[in-house]
Amino acid sequence: TLHCAKALQLTLAVIKPDAVAHPLIMKALHQRILESNFIIVRRKDLKWRRQDSERFYAEHSGRFFYQRLVEFMSSGPMRAYILAREDAIAHWRELMGPTKVYRARYTSPDTIRAQYGLTDTRNTTHGSDSVESAHREIAFFFPEFQIEDWMKKEEPCFR
Ligand code: PPS
Repeated sequence: TLHCAKALQLTLAVIKPDAVAHPLIMKALHQRILESNFIIVRRKDLKWRRQDSERFYAEHSGRFFYQRLVEFMSSGPMRAYILAREDAIAHWRELMGPTKVYRARYTSPDTIRAQYGLTDTRNTTHGSDSVESAHREIAFFFPEFQIEDWMKKEEPCFR
C-alpha cells in the first residue's frame, strides 16, 4: 500500500490587489510559494464585486477598518491559490507574517508582509487561519473545486 511520511493539508492563499498591481512582486511571491515546498493545487485570477468582499469579511463587519478593507479588496484583481503540504495553514501564515505591517517589519523582517506590505489593510496576502476557515474560503474562491473528492484521491496523505 501507498505510504506517506507526512500528512497533507490544504489552505487558501490570496495575493491581494496591492501586490497584484506589481508584476515583480507577484513573481517573487509565486517563487516563494514553490521554494516553500507547497503544491499548487489550483490557481485563479479574479476580481471581487463589493458584495463578494462584504460577504467574505462579514465577521469583521463591526470593526473600524471594515469599510476600508471591503473597499480595498474589491478595488482590483487578486490571485487565489489552493496550496497543499503538511501543516499548510501554519506554514503559509508563518511565511506571510503578522497582519500588521509595522509589527511584521519589527518582529519578522523576512516575512512577505514585512517585505512587501504597505499598511495593515494593504498587507499583500491573506491566509486561512484554521481547517474550518480553509474549507470555507476554498469553497468561496473555488466553488467548482470538490475538496472531499480531491482529498480522497490523495489518501492516505490527507488528514
Ligand atoms: S485582528 O486585528 O487580529 O482581528 O486581525 P486579523 O483577524 O488577523 O485580520 C483582520 C483582517 O482585516 C484586515 N485589516 C486590518 N486588520 C487590523 N487593523 C487594520 N487597521 C486593518 N485593516 C484591514 C487585515 O488585513 C485582515 O485581513 P485578512 O485578509 O484576513 O488577512
